[in-house]
Amino acid sequence: MRVLVTGGMGYIGSHTCIALHDAGITPVIYDNLSNASAQVLDQLEKITGTRFEFILGDIQDEQQFKLALKHTKAEAVFHFAALKAVGESTEQPLRYYQNNVSGTLSMLQSMQEADVNHIIFSSSATVYGEPDYLPIDEKHPIRATNPYGWTKVMVEQAMQDVCNANSQFMGIALRYFNPVGAHPSGLLGESPNGIPNNLMPFIAQTAVGKREVVNIFGDDYDTEDGTGMRDYIHVLDLAKGHVAAFMQHKTDTAFHAYNLGTGQSYSVLDMIKAFSASANKDIPYKSAPRRAGDIACNYADATKAKNTLNWHAELTLSDMTNDTWRWQTNYPRGLES
Ligand code: NAD
Ligand code: WQD
Repeated sequence: MRVLVTGGMGYIGSHTCIALHDAGITPVIYDNLSNASAQVLDQLEKITGTRFEFILGDIQDEQQFKLALKHTKAEAVFHFAALKAVGESTEQPLRYYQNNVSGTLSMLQSMQEADVNHIIFSSSATVYGEPDYLPIDEKHPIRATNPYGWTKVMVEQAMQDVCNANSQFMGIALRYFNPVGAHPSGLLGESPNGIPNNLMPFIAQTAVGKREVVNIFGDDYDTEDGTGMRDYIHVLDLAKGHVAAFMQHKTDTAFHAYNLGTGQSYSVLDMIKAFSASANKDIPYKSAPRRAGDIACNYADATKAKNTLNWHAELTLSDMTNDTWRWQTNYPRGLES
């Protein structure tokens, strides 16, 4: 079986291509390389022994996307392609709505015309906004707090409506908590452009000497040590979650949403400490003001995924930091762009 993977050259999409390949499913990558290196294909080949088919294309190009569906005879779409920087989305909201929402709407249109009726979408725990309760289950109210988050809410709603209108259609929204880690081979990982927004790449770049000090955004939260707590999940576990969700629902219809998290949260200080152990060195850090829009704590109730998909996160915090450190030391400047 062949599936089209939009954004398959990116961080989570590329790891999911490996998991699909391992499950006997052939991924065909569709990516505009706006936030990825073409060298990812070489890395995927080194890891899997297979050169994946790659189509350079934009999801906003309805005609090209439809041709890609037909040409590849894809039976499903794994949809990772999106812009993902929260801060940037508040500065350039229309760019985010255009790329993430309009792009997905034209994909859904092309899929219906090409009679490809299965989509697995990268959603985010950001759709829950400031949590009413913890752990967060899938019944928690949906309310984003920034344009990026709204793009996820809007796409989920559009998928749900298409599923309601088209009895052949099946959509799965996977709400990721905080993806981290890298492939254990050290050949593939996350390499953000410029100064990383997210904690783990910032710690990794500080450990390797690229940044001077980790700024801890707030040390007076109502948490165990005063710093923000999150449910970090290894990208390999996340990738397996996609395969499990697809295998479970590939013959049915309707819309499904799942949290993909570990159910456990770690503080910023926990993360720095764990990374120091992996890198075997002290990592300098200092307190800084809270970051606007940040919440104190979140973590998933991932029971639904466990019971329905027979999936749960298996890798530990030290797997996350060890694998990130291996990748960071192998490729301190990321792959060639
Ligand atoms: P990424 O930037 O590494 O990957 C996204 C890929 O999509 C890139 O390769 C980029 O070139 C491609 N792309 C972007 N716009 C495109 C377009 N219009 N047409 C074709 N390709 C396009 O990001 P990631 O971290 O791998 O995230 C993958 C998905 O998961 C995104 O939808 C993101 O919003 C979602 N997500 C990410 C996180 C996270 O913390 N990384 C958390 C929750 C959800
Ligand atoms: C984690 C913790 C920070 C950087 C974001 C998006 C979310 C999702 C995942 C896509 C927080 C603290 C961070 C730093 C710090 N993406 N921190 N110093 O904010 O939970 O989620 O990425 O869907 O939508 O909002 O992740 O890694 O940025 O922050 O102290 O330099 O680390 O305050 O407590 P976040 P993060």
